[in-house]
Amino acid sequence: MDAGTSLFGVMGHPVGHSLSPVMHNAAFGFLGLNAVYLAFDVGDPAGVPVAMRTLGIRGMSVTLPHKEALLALVDDLDPMAEKMGAVNTLCLKDDGRILGLNTDWCGARDALLDAGPLHGKRAAILGAGGAGRAVAFGIREAGAFPLIVNRSREKGEALARDLGADFCLLSEFTGSGMDILVNTTSLGMYPDVDAMPVPGEVLHGGMVVMDIVYNPRKTRLIRAAESLGCRVVDGLEMFIRQGALQFEVWTAREAPVDCMRKAVEAVL
Ligand code: ATR
Repeated sequence: MDAGTSLFGVMGHPVGHSLSPVMHNAAFGFLGLNAVYLAFDVGDPAGVPVAMRTLGIRGMSVTLPHKEALLALVDDLDPMAEKMGAVNTLCLKDDGRILGLNTDWCGARDALLDAGPLHGKRAAILGAGGAGRAVAFGIREAGAFPLIVNRSREKGEALARDLGADFCLLSEFTGSGMDILVNTTSLGMYPDVDAMPVPGEVLHGGMVVMDIVYNPRKTRLIRAAESLGCRVVDGLEMFIRQGALQFEVWTAREAPVDCMRKAVEAVL
């Protein structure tokens, strides 16, 4: 690091557990870029645009709980971020304006595309929080038909309405007719590793099954899907892909995705 080092970071609360610094610093190192990525524990995001402009922080990842608050704080908003109601990426432009974007939905789409085409496929999204919203928008943009499946009706129906998609109560979901199933709830996450968002009977061999939980790396849902011969996508892949897209927005360089994945795998 020297006087010419560019500064990037992640802001959220808490951020101590974030894997983003490891991932982005590995990419900077791999490409020999004079840049560093830090974690900022931010309680009130209101001052973040001023801080970025004042200190010349070129890019920021935005994590919980600030993704919605940043919508109103940026100078320019990418249309998809506006549609989704969430910002996960900030970019300081040369003219000093802050652009807010969302790469979560493309990260979900790209992770799923690795397992096969999405166009025309029927995809059940379990959960209707921020992660469910990103996955649902991502697969819809790729031409698939999302079905929102949620424990509570109100939240699930609200997301389904925003997407123009159908809704099903989690308790009534059978998996029938589904090509893809994505868990976006926290069910199965450490320490509750025996939990599964749906009973095993919901899965069938032809399905692509993705779990956004990556601690443990192989959740009970992913293990059950593998045992049926399903193609599976783990949650780390969505995280890596959204980060790779951030990296490309900030640096205009192709992200070294394998290097980023290996760096994160090494610390997990
Ligand atoms: P995030 O923004 O990280 O996705 P969230 O907004 O808390 O997190 O959303 C979590 C989603 O997981 C919600 O859809 C939630 O269902 P409700 O809307 O009914 O609360 C779902 N979820 C969380 N715990 C669950 C559980 N034990 N069983 C079923 N669904 C659960």
